Amino acid sequence: MSEQTRAARYSALAIALHWTIAALIVLQIVIAGRMEGRTPEAFAVVQFHKSIGITVLLLSLARLAWRVVNPPPPEPATLAGWERTLSTVVHWAFYVVMIGMPLTGWIMVSASRIVLPTLLFGHIPWPHLPGLPELAPAAKKVWHDTARDAHHLIIKGAYVLIALHVAGALKHQLFTRNEPVLARMAPGAVGGRWLEPRLFAILAGVIAVIAFGKLYEPPRPAMGVLPPPPVAPAEPVAPTPPAPVVAPAPAAAAAAPEPVLSAPAKWAVTPDSTLGFATAWSGDAIQGRFDKWTADILFSPDALDGSRVSVAIDLASAKTGDEQRDASLPSGDWFDTASHPKATFTATRFSKTGEGRFVAHGTLSLRGVSRPLNLPFRLKITGDRAEVSGVTSLDRTAFGVGQGEWKSTDQIPAKVTVTIALKAKRM
Ligand code: HEM
Ligand code: HEM
Repeated sequence: MSEQTRAARYSALAIALHWTIAALIVLQIVIAGRMEGRTPEAFAVVQFHKSIGITVLLLSLARLAWRVVNPPPPEPATLAGWERTLSTVVHWAFYVVMIGMPLTGWIMVSASRIVLPTLLFGHIPWPHLPGLPELAPAAKKVWHDTARDAHHLIIKGAYVLIALHVAGALKHQLFTRNEPVLARMAPGAVGGRWLEPRLFAILAGVIAVIAFGKLYEPPRPAMGVLPPPPVAPAEPVAPTPPAPVVAPAPAAAAAAPEPVLSAPAKWAVTPDSTLGFATAWSGDAIQGRFDKWTADILFSPDALDGSRVSVAIDLASAKTGDEQRDASLPSGDWFDTASHPKATFTATRFSKTGEGRFVAHGTLSLRGVSRPLNLPFRLKITGDRAEVSGVTSLDRTAFGVGQGEWKSTDQIPAKVTVTIALKAKRM
């Protein structure tokens, strides 16, 4: 008997792969129910779904290769002809599911309107299917929608297959003796035994996977965390200070009197200057920064009339501390850098509101829309050095930043805070 059981079971590797893949497919189905919406949680669940799905693809290809080299053990001789045919059809159809589901998912994300990089489990870069991200939008949509329909269709077929497969395994386990079918995948299972411990172990496993799929919270995109700017600052500075940092104390001002510049002077911005923005996603703060921008400054606090400032911001250099989220910022939904690579802020009118305090009355051009923007700022000039800090806010929707489902302000508010912390040297 034990000889026979050993001879009639799948190899240890085939068994390990069978149960691992089965568990991951059940997990995929459960977590797919949590991917709706534009919340950071849903975003994280989609990334997790992609990671598990690609894992299933790799394991299934390995399983298929192993199966070709190591054919399954002969089936029990007592099986009826239709049972053999049905089980063979179900097994091969399962391979279509195990490979077709991840493949259609992969096509979907590669041909997505906004092509986001895939980082498996947050770390391992996974490529897009070659050719798809570069397609014209209309062709991309056809690929994406067809793959999505196939993804939805195959999973419906999978539900039928799982029902047939489990029913078959249970029928042979519970209602027939001497037909050790379950024992082929769960070695040691005794046919005809209702209180078979391996059946309970499988049931417990399924319940555990469902519970995990419902409760597990995959790591969410990074919020409010920004890596340091690419140019090493001369002195340590906070990446994007939330509030103005320069507040000249009257005593300090008295100690180092500001030079009088009767004509506007040219200023060169030093690399430790930052241009930041702050918003929120689903109530969590997001800090952002533009890494590439230039400023043309002709300014004197004593000659405001001739002063002018012009800032050009490379929108593709926006960073918010999450690689996948940042990859979507240049897209048509956000900054649309293909049509409008730069935003500009130009101010030719300045007013003084207090000691060392000014307002630049300018125009912001962003995404093809130009609107007035006032930037209150503080200025401290010491010798030929100047420090400027300012905070203002704007309505992103007025510039069309956030299209489609992102137009709504329920997840990401309309108001964006813009912060400058600028250091400059007189030229
Ligand atoms: C074994 C592998 C997989 C299984 C069992 C699976 C299962 C599912 C299920 C059940 C849904 C929900 C379908 C519905 O709403 O009717 C879904 C949706 C989705 N899956 Fe998968 N999936 C797998 C692999 C993948 C992979 C590898 C990716 C991407 C790399 C992916 C991307 C998606 C996406 C983007 C959706 C949302 C589609 C939509 O817009 O409705 N899936 N998946
Ligand atoms: C989504 C889940 C599942 C998938 C995709 C799946 C897939 C497969 C495939 C493809 C085979 C053929 C052997 C192979 O090439 O590996 C197989 C065999 C088998 N599976 Fe599953 N399975 C799943 C769930 C289950 C469950 C829940 C049970 C038990 C209740 C089970 C019991 C068996 C048994 C006993 C065999 C051996 C049948 C034989 O060769 O006569 N499977 N399964």
